[in-house]
Amino acid sequence: MKILAVVSGGDAPGINAALWHFARAAEAHGDILVGADGGFPAALNAPYLAMTARSLAAQVSLGGTIIASSREPVMREELARTRLAERLRTEDIDGILLFGGDGTLKHLPPLLNDAGVACLALPTTIDNDVAGTERTMGFDSACNFAYTSIDGALATGRALPGRIFTVETLGGNTGHLAMAIGAAAGAHAVLVPEIDYELDWLVQRVRAGLASDGYALIVHSEGIMHSRALPQMIAEEVGVRVRDVHLGHAQRGGNATHIDRALAARWAAEAYQAFRRGIRRGILLEREGRLVLHEGGLEAFPTPDIDRALYAYVNGL
Ligand code: F6P
Repeated sequence: MKILAVVSGGDAPGINAALWHFARAAEAHGDILVGADGGFPAALNAPYLAMTARSLAAQVSLGGTIIASSREPVMREELARTRLAERLRTEDIDGILLFGGDGTLKHLPPLLNDAGVACLALPTTIDNDVAGTERTMGFDSACNFAYTSIDGALATGRALPGRIFTVETLGGNTGHLAMAIGAAAGAHAVLVPEIDYELDWLVQRVRAGLASDGYALIVHSEGIMHSRALPQMIAEEVGVRVRDVHLGHAQRGGNATHIDRALAARWAAEAYQAFRRGIRRGILLEREGRLVLHEGGLEAFPTPDIDRALYAYVNGL
């Protein structure tokens, strides 16, 4: 077999590890992994890169991806899908190993299948917002990246009491990442795009945090209303300067943690075995802690909601 790896959309820590594990499994059986260096535009037009386990080994722990991704929606065009199917035939490719987040996985696998392209996909996004799976690859690494920053901010916060910290996470228009991080970091308030907040309430939470712990920590997603203005709004109400931490894209490109590397190993092995069994369509999901190869589309699953019980608990509601 010859399998083409394609990364589409935002990268996520763990993808390099998954490529390495897949390449090792393939090589052990005389099969080959190649990569499209630049997402689907490269799958259409660029030379494919040889991806041997040896060439990938040094990247295993690193965030980003050794083959570039792309957000270009080139596969929307039917003609492009036909051209891709033709190219894969010419290049003797048996199937695509696809890495992507919510948008990619909802739309692309069915379209590729209809064009006659076999595609097995892994949910890779730090946002943890893919329908049908309890976990996406990269989420754990992004949480751990945030703890390093928050721990540092709070260490100086305890050394110089009376300070207010706001921490903005990535997550797009979803709050799963901010919610998980804020809860585990013991934030006094967590703000997510899915649920509106009142400034008066937030100010009370800040004052209560200052009184009880000597600092106040607010963790919020980049997608909340007034995200950029929030520090200034709080400062004006409380009368204390706010120290603002933006995790930004550094959060997406951090090193892969044990959990993401372990996921990469299991998901890559399962994807490889599925290709060997001749399966032509599937997405690997984690359901009730177990790995499942879902052969249908993601429309079978509801959009994942914020953990509202946790939200209420963390925010003292
Ligand atoms: O891939 C998901 C994500 O990292 C979101 O958390 C974030 O909002 C978005 O991508 C950023 O996208 P871009 O890298 O295109 O700025």
